[in-house]
Amino acid sequence: MSLFIAFEGGEGTGKSTQIELLRHSLEELNRKVTSLREPGGTPLGEYLRDWLVDESRSLEPESELFLFAAARAELVRTVIKPQLQSGSDVLLDRYAASTTVYQGFARKIPLRHVNAANSLATDDLVPALTVLLDAPPEISLNRAQLRDVNIKNTKRFEQNSISFHQTVRDGFLRLASKDPAKWLVIDAEQTVENIHSLIRRKVKDLIL
Ligand code: TYD
Repeated sequence: MSLFIAFEGGEGTGKSTQIELLRHSLEELNRKVTSLREPGGTPLGEYLRDWLVDESRSLEPESELFLFAAARAELVRTVIKPQLQSGSDVLLDRYAASTTVYQGFARKIPLRHVNAANSLATDDLVPALTVLLDAPPEISLNRAQLRDVNIKNTKRFEQNSISFHQTVRDGFLRLASKDPAKWLVIDAEQTVENIHSLIRRKVKDLIL
């Protein structure tokens, strides 16, 4: 059975590195793997990504909610579901929990609206596992800023205060604690290799 695994966490927690490592591990087991990021993965998603991660473009929280939801609705229906149905595993960098945390907890849109948007956008498709890479904002923001200086691009959410990012961190931990069977929380200050082996062990349990 194909696996749908989402990765969540604040900026600079190492999601993309871990997705790449897990992709290699799964491919070594002869599994077909598709890795994607949100927003992105479709022409609409990549177009919206330019808007959504550009610090110079200010958006109302509600507009953000609809744009992330539009990108996700397209990705779920045109890529994720067909890939899962064709037997490919799907590894996804951010999913609906990011919307709950950023637009809901941090930007204060009432959760009933956020939940409704997530439910419609995802068509109620829930990952078998969500990996949360958890780190204090002081650490992860430093890493994100170093990375972005290299690519000359500072992202909108990275401009927010430490307290915004603390709310994001607490929000992810709160979601994970509500559904421990479906979340794997990992201390992202560990070495890349340690983190990868924790993820690999959990994913192997899902495959067997
Ligand atoms: P991205 O370039 O993917 O950075 P990161 O490495 O942190 O994942 O930026 C995506 C940004 O969009 C990130 O700041 C989180 C935010 N976001 C939301 O606010 N809501 C969402 O639903 C999603 C998917 C992302």
